[in-house]
Amino acid sequence: MVLPNAAATILLTALITLSPFAFSSVVDDAYPSPYTAAMTSCDLDDGGSRLSPIRREVYDEGRIIDISHRYHPDMPSWGSDDGLGEFLRLPASMKNGSLANNSEMKIPTHTGTHVDAPGHVYDHYFDAGFDVDTLDLHVLNDPSKRLSRKMNPKLIFLMLIIPYVSSFPQENAYPSPYSEEELIPPRREVYGSGRIYDITHRVTSGTLSGVSDEGIGEYLTLFQSMKNGSDYNFSIIKLPAHSGTHVDAPGHFYENYYQAGFDIDSLDLEVLNGPALLVDVPRDKNITAEVMEALNIPKGVRRVLFRTLNTDRRLMSQTRFDTSYVGFMKDGAQWLKDNTDIKLVGIDYLSVAAYDDLIPAHLVFLKSREIILVEGLKLEDVEAGLYNVHCLPLRLLGAEGSPIRCILIK
Ligand SMILES: *[C@@H]1O[C@H](CO)[C@@H](O)[C@H](O)[C@H]1NC(C)=O
Ligand SMILES: *[C@@H]1O[C@H](CO)[C@@H](O)[C@H](O)[C@H]1NC(C)=O
Ligand SMILES: *[C@@H]1O[C@H](CO)[C@@H](O)[C@H](O)[C@H]1NC(C)=O
Ligand SMILES: *[C@@H]1O[C@H](CO)[C@@H](O)[C@H](O)[C@H]1NC(C)=O
Ligand SMILES: *[C@@H]1O[C@H](CO)[C@@H](O)[C@H](O)[C@H]1NC(C)=O
Repeated sequence: MVLPNAAATILLTALITLSPFAFSSVVDDAYPSPYTAAMTSCDLDDGGSRLSPIRREVYDEGRIIDISHRYHPDMPSWGSDDGLGEFLRLPASMKNGSLANNSEMKIPTHTGTHVDAPGHVYDHYFDAGFDVDTLDLHVLNDPSKRLSRKMNPKLIFLMLIIPYVSSFPQENAYPSPYSEEELIPPRREVYGSGRIYDITHRVTSGTLSGVSDEGIGEYLTLFQSMKNGSDYNFSIIKLPAHSGTHVDAPGHFYENYYQAGFDIDSLDLEVLNGPALLVDVPRDKNITAEVMEALNIPKGVRRVLFRTLNTDRRLMSQTRFDTSYVGFMKDGAQWLKDNTDIKLVGIDYLSVAAYDDLIPAHLVFLKSREIILVEGLKLEDVEAGLYNVHCLPLRLLGAEGSPIRCILIK
């Protein structure tokens, strides 16, 4: 059999085999990714058609440009000579009785494209809780197009060459270290005077993952600390890839897609970012074909976030996995696929598929590899209606799931 897209395959194989177990000094125990052993030609068979993931930097004809680095074992990691090493492992796999493959990621928090919180180098900020959860989404997601259209080009030039002019818009979310103010980190759901809604659940030790009834447990460990001689604090994050608000890749339920590399890094950012409809689903049913039809979602709508009884029941706030959540039944998934243009399906619990139809409904959605499933969204206190959704997963090479940050912009 001829290898499909040989160049890409060779590149990937090279990425993976260059240092398969060059596990860095930063992360101690080995995280063998099942993906390491993948990429044999026979696994790529899909009834004759060629299976090869597309990996892009630019989407939607230049409208979206990915400026994040893909995570892979050879990428640099602070303080390590051997790179990041294996950052994914499979604690449960279909090979040993699990319903799906659910991998776990382990990454030093300052690896690849990342952000620092004020607590990174200020002890009193760290102790007061100024963590990444307190960062201002309006600073991180400025409506720059509107801003620059209104702005005089001379002003833009000035802003570029004089970064600290006194007239610079005061959007500083953090109090000065010298202020007498009480140090209370802001934790918000709404930013930019109501323009931006955070629809992502905060990750805590109680975050639901579906693999345990106690939540994810301690997901951060301090690997280096100022208390024992380091110049900074540096933690490592360890999370089941399907914890809290997250996204599935086609390889989550399809063996051949998994082997061919249809991972998180191959998801289409154009589908994950654009106009989206937030709709309320009748509270007394799971999402069947009948329910889908009654929702009357117009043709042309490509992104829909389904708010269900799960939100009313605050199911995502409980650490115990509850199998009575509302989700798509197989016929509902099929109806959506056959009768709408929806490519982004968002839901307010850990699975878009109702527990009774867990596998069949997922298989319907993921088969074409065109529909992206975002699960565990936080849809309370947002009005139903039309928004722009921005959903960005981590660029995890080889992962069948990833935590995702989703926001709505009015
Ligand atoms: C299941 O298999 C994985 C490897 O795929 C292994 O790490 C794990 O320990 C196994 N779990 C059980 C319960 O056998
Ligand atoms: C570093 O971690 C210690 C805990 O070991 C904590 O008490 C301290 O506030 C942290 N400092 C910074 C700057 O993060
Ligand atoms: C430094 O302290 C952390 C806990 O804060 C510990 O995990 C680590 O092993 C210590 N490192 C050294 C070199 O003592
Ligand atoms: C599950 O993981 C195994 C490795 O243990 C891999 O061979 C298989 O292709 C994976 N299947 C899916 C559907 O992800
Ligand atoms: C939805 O389906 C689940 C089983 O998957 C069931 O336990 C639950 O009661 C159903 N919810 C409603 C509102 O019908």
